[in-house]
Amino acid sequence: FVERTLAIIKPDAIENANEIEDMILKNGFTILQKRRIILSAEQCSDFYSEHYGKKFFPSLVAFMTSGPILALILARENAILSWRELIGPTNSTQARESHPDRFRIYVRALFGTNEQKNAVHGSDSAVSAEREIRFFFPNSIVEPIPLGR
Ligand code: CMP
Repeated sequence: FVERTLAIIKPDAIENANEIEDMILKNGFTILQKRRIILSAEQCSDFYSEHYGKKFFPSLVAFMTSGPILALILARENAILSWRELIGPTNSTQARESHPDRFRIYVRALFGTNEQKNAVHGSDSAVSAEREIRFFFPNSIVEPIPLGR
């Protein structure tokens, strides 16, 4: 069924935002809403609260607040899993070493650098998607999901 997910184009890939958006659209997603912002350290810590206490947390916050990001609400049949499949493994180096199939390449393989600078984010579950969409679009009127997809 048609779902929504949250995508983020991270500071390391913001210059490739147009190309990434093309990949998003070519893979059958609809971009319902889009917002370009610079996160404060506090907002970023709140967004990534599940990783609080991990070794990479401070540098993750430094990276994600280092420049503008683009948050996007994507809609598609099976959007959450489909977007995770399109972006590939968290570690961009690992993403470059594998391909989903002969004709496609992962977003993180193309635009990411390593396990931290990995170009994009995708919600990992329906619960996360709901929370993450609300995080970036707290008081927006929810756009209807286009029918026929
Ligand atoms: P993301 O999918 O946005 O979720 C958490 C982020 O933390 C992840 O992408 C990476 O940017 C970063 N991350 C995850 N694991 C590591 C790691 N081992 N070292 C550094 N950064 C990491």
